[in-house]
Amino acid sequence: MSRPTLLIENLKLGFKSYAGLAQVLHGISLQIAQGERVALVGESGSGKSVTARIVLGLLQELRSARVEGWLEFEGKDLNTLSRRERHSLRGTKMSMIFQDPTSALNPVYTIEVLFHEVLKRANPGISRAQARKKAAEALARVAIHDPERVLQSYSFQLSGGMNQRIIIAMALANGPSLLIADEPGTALDVTVQNQTLKLMSDLVREQGTSVLFISHNLGVVREFADRVYVIYKGRMVETGPTAALFANPSHPYTRALLAAVPRLTGGGIPEIEDDSQAFYDPTVVHETSPKVEVSS
Ligand SMILES: Nc1ncnc2c1ncn2[C@@H]1O[C@H](COP(=O)(O)OP(=O)(O)OP(=O)(O)O)[C@@H](O)[C@H]1O
Ligand SMILES: [Mg+2]
Repeated sequence: MSRPTLLIENLKLGFKSYAGLAQVLHGISLQIAQGERVALVGESGSGKSVTARIVLGLLQELRSARVEGWLEFEGKDLNTLSRRERHSLRGTKMSMIFQDPTSALNPVYTIEVLFHEVLKRANPGISRAQARKKAAEALARVAIHDPERVLQSYSFQLSGGMNQRIIIAMALANGPSLLIADEPGTALDVTVQNQTLKLMSDLVREQGTSVLFISHNLGVVREFADRVYVIYKGRMVETGPTAALFANPSHPYTRALLAAVPRLTGGGIPEIEDDSQAFYDPTVVHETSPKVEVSS
C-alpha cells in the first residue's frame, strides 16, 4: 500500500505563557490517503485550526508554541524541513482555504495580479500573459463565465460567492496534493456555501487532491467527506467512514455532536452533559464500523 499523503502521529501542542504551558493537543493521530477527503469536526476551541496550522508549518514558527510528534507529508518528515522548505510547500503542494473569502483577497490588487502571485509560487518565471491564460482557465473551472472581466476586478467589486470561487480556483491552481479547508465559506449564506462546496468537491475529485476539511457543519461534512475524525478538547475521540460514523456513533461526544445537528439556528454544539463519560478510555480512538457495538 502506498504511504498516506498526510500522516500525523501522537501530535502534541502546548502554548507557553507567563502562567506556564497550556496543553492544547494531547497526542492526536490522523491520516489522509491520496485523494481521500477527510473531515475534522469538533466544538470551538477543540484544536481543529491549530492542527491545520501545524500541518502548514505555521505554528512551528511561533516562539510560544511547543510542537511534538510525527508529521509526514508525501513520505517526507515535515519536522526536518527548514523554515524555507516549509515556506515553499505552502501554496504549491499544500494549499489552504480560510473562512472569510473577502479578507483572503487583498483589495489593493486586481484578481489578475493576485492570481499571478499564486502561480509564481510554483512557477517563478511565468509571464503575465501565461499567468492570465492559466488564471482564466482556472476561473472557468469554478463556473465563472466571464473570467476576463473578473481578472480586471478587485475583490470588493465582486460578490462573496464569487470571491469564494476565486479562492478555490487559486487554492487548486498549482495542483496541490493536499488542500486544507478550514470552515470554508461559513461567512457566506447557506445556499452559496453549498454551491461552492459542491464545486470544490467536484474539482478535488477530478484532480485526486487529498483534503482536510474542517467544519462545524455536520450536514456539509456528510455530503463532502469520505471519513470523519472527531476531536474533543485536544484528543481524537472517534474516527470512521462518514456514513458509518453518522449511522452508529460510538463515542458519547460524537452522539452529542450529532444530536445537535437538527438545531439549525445557532446555539452551537453543546457540551456533553456527563463529562466523565467522554474519556472512559482517552487513549482509544474508536474505529467506527457498521457493526460496531455501542457501549453506554
Ligand atoms: N497562538 C495561540 N496562543 C495561545 N493559544 C492559542 C493560540 N492559538 C490557538 N490557541 C488555543 O488553542 C485552542 C485550540 O484553538 P483552535 O483555534 O485550534 O480551535 P478550533 O477547534 O479551530 O475552534 P473554532 O471552531 O472556534 O475555530 C484554543 O483554546 C485556543 O485558545
Ligand atoms: Mg478554527
